[in-house]
Amino acid sequence: DSGLPIPQPPKHWLLGNLGEIDSSNNAGSMWRLADLYGEIFRLDLAGRRVIVCSSYELVNDLCDSERFEKPVSGALEQVRVLTKDGLFTAYPGEHNWGVAHRLLMPVFGPMGIRKMFGGMMDIASQMLLQWDRFGPDHEIDTADNFTRLTFDMIGLCAFGYRFNNFYREDAHPFVTQMGDVLMEAGKRANRLAIENRLRIFSAQQTAENVAAMHALCDEIIADRKAHPQPDLQDLLNPMLQGKDPKTGESMTEENIRYNMVTFLVAGHETTSGTLGFLFYHLLKNPEKYMAAQREVDEVLGDGPFEPKHLSKLNYVRYSVFETLRYMGPISIISKHALKTDKIAGKYKVEPSDAILLNLKPFHHDAAVWGNDADDFRPERWLNGGAEALPKNSFKAFGDGERACIGRGFAEQEMIMVVAMILQNFQLEMADPSYELWPKVTLTLKPGGFKIKARRRPGRN
Ligand code: HEM
Repeated sequence: DSGLPIPQPPKHWLLGNLGEIDSSNNAGSMWRLADLYGEIFRLDLAGRRVIVCSSYELVNDLCDSERFEKPVSGALEQVRVLTKDGLFTAYPGEHNWGVAHRLLMPVFGPMGIRKMFGGMMDIASQMLLQWDRFGPDHEIDTADNFTRLTFDMIGLCAFGYRFNNFYREDAHPFVTQMGDVLMEAGKRANRLAIENRLRIFSAQQTAENVAAMHALCDEIIADRKAHPQPDLQDLLNPMLQGKDPKTGESMTEENIRYNMVTFLVAGHETTSGTLGFLFYHLLKNPEKYMAAQREVDEVLGDGPFEPKHLSKLNYVRYSVFETLRYMGPISIISKHALKTDKIAGKYKVEPSDAILLNLKPFHHDAAVWGNDADDFRPERWLNGGAEALPKNSFKAFGDGERACIGRGFAEQEMIMVVAMILQNFQLEMADPSYELWPKVTLTLKPGGFKIKARRRPGRN
């Protein structure tokens, strides 16, 4: 029994369905095809058979970890030139994933990230100071600004290293090198193998970028070993000194380096893009902006932000969730079947099929979110929040044991930054007629979105 047929767009004799994918906007291509073909469709991409699932019913079934797991293929596999067996790009069952995962889980837990509060405040304050200095007429490019912010936060909180992006004209070279490598990784995944082999120049460029990034990480490690800072509450100390509770092993220096780059890759564009989308939604929906600001005023008044405020800022937290639901920075997560299987008892798949979970249409499925799924409404999370939803409804942070290890870190930094901005500044769009378009690199962010920030009267 081969199950229900899976629709597929017409194929080109050589390129298969590659022509369906806009290599500079693969997320948009997947949304367009889901509109056309519905909850499931198949693509033949340069010899890879890809199955794209966009409904709650299918994604819920794919989250059964007994039958499906995260493969490392496509763009993710291309990123391995940079992050190898770091947490994000480790193959299923790869030894160093287990060591790092077990050793780092508690460090990323609620107690661990609370210790990074001071470092986050330090960087958030630098940003607000810069906004003040630039004044109310300055146009803030959200992508550039929030990337400086999130990059600096990871650098300081994870390795005690200051990239000092708020003190530079151009962002730190590491930021550009990383952007170039990720962009090229995404493109390589959608090219024929022969075409990739012909792109000698871009391969060489990638190799140079990767070498420079690894060298910086190695330098930070060497510096820490030469000048230990035993009281510093970051990730580097536990990575250098900690032991895997299961095997008693330490992380190898090479794997520490891959994970340092991993945290910078996984942790900065995602959080930065989310902040951009969030302020876009708040400015597009002034009554939601006012609701968030009202909550911040009630909780913080004009006093400094403190750890105790984090759990009280529910509207802000739900605005973050709603932003991620509406269109998050990661548009696809992947799975493959451990053996021949049928998704939701309907569609037959083989272990060699790459199954893509198409997050935007999935997070807009009326079966879970109702008929107003296309409205930005943080209120929908208020009654019981995520717990009140059917299981596996919200996958912006991935799924199962390969879900985001930095989720708590990201939530803490986003709630802090949103609250501090709303407390102190009145924002407006630099161009009131701006319409949202997602700029796609490996992640999504609002393209060309600029804001202006004016100090609120009486707040300084
Ligand atoms: C994994 C989303 C912030 C570190 C993931 C995955 C998603 C995700 C969807 C799973 C990817 C997959 O299935 O292939 C996000 C979002 C963030 C965010 C939406 C912010 C809004 C962060 C931060 C860090 C981080 C701040 C680090 C400090 C990681 C790591 C993994 C991961 C290391 C791989 C986990 C593993 O496979 O063991 N993230 N992330 N992320 N994330 Fe995040």
